[in-house]
Formats: sequence, C-alpha cells, structure tokens
Amino acid sequence: MTLVFEGLSDDYSNLLNEAREAMNKAYVPYSNFQVGAALLDDEGHVHAGCNVENAAYGPCNCAERTALFRAVADGKRPGQFLAIGVMGDTDGPIAPCGVCRQVMVELCAPDMPVVMGNLRGEWTIMTVKELLPGAFTPSSLEKGARK
Ligand code: THU
Repeated sequence: MTLVFEGLSDDYSNLLNEAREAMNKAYVPYSNFQVGAALLDDEGHVHAGCNVENAAYGPCNCAERTALFRAVADGKRPGQFLAIGVMGDTDGPIAPCGVCRQVMVELCAPDMPVVMGNLRGEWTIMTVKELLPGAFTPSSLEKGARK
C-alpha cells in the first residue's frame, strides 16, 4: 500500500515509500522497532537499508547506515548522493540517531536533504548540516588544523 505524504514532491514521496518497503526487511529481534532508509544517487538508483540488530547490542546497525554503506560498497562515493528518505513507526517524523548523522556528514553534501517520515504520512525535511551543526568533518583532519 502506497503511503500519501501530502505536500511532498513525488520524488521524495517515492523515496519515503521505498524506505517504507525497506522497513519490512529489518532484522529487529530485540527492539521490534523497524526502520527503513532509501538513498537516492546521481544515477537515479536507490540504495535501500534497514536496521540489523545483534544479541550483543553494540553491533546494531541503523537503517540509514546500512543504506549508506551499501551504496559505498556498490561503488558510490561522497558527492554522488542526492537525498535520503527515512521511515519508522514514530510519533512525528523519525529522527536519525547521532551516529547516523555523523556518517551522513562524512558521505553526503552539507546541503543534502534528509526526508524523514512516519507511517501516518507525516514528514519533514532537514539538511545534513542542519541535523548536525558544528560537526567534526573530513576537513577537521587537514594539516594545519592539527596542533
Ligand atoms: N534505528 C534506526 O535504524 N534508525 C534511526 O533513525 C533510529 C534508530 C534503529 C536502531 C535500533 O535497531 C532500533 O532502531 C531501536 O533504536
């Protein structure tokens, strides 16, 4: 069943619906909380991801990182991502965790839109930079920035 996101562009609505599909693949025996992500690249391909949990808890991987790492493993690189959609069954649009925000800062442009939604059709959009202001970035490591 296709979800309707009122007022959202068709492209981003499709992305959230792809993220919704990815939720079904989540491996979540511990939290029972499914999350899906769909990352659009510059060739129009969508890299889907879901959260994958682990009995040791620490190795749990969020849907957003699964999608981002999958895209890198598929050969995509920073500068080649146009948007990411994220879906969960939350009150209000889902908010990516801090670790995923840091990974987005590494791999995505600062102004790349992050489209966040929920199963009620609620949505919001923020850029990567808005989600993690003042981030530690690759340029933080440049020579001259070190003591
Ligand atoms: N989770 C995600 O996959 N993405 C988010 O944006 C928030 C949290 C996952 C991690 C864990 O598997 C479960 O949701 C509960 O925190």
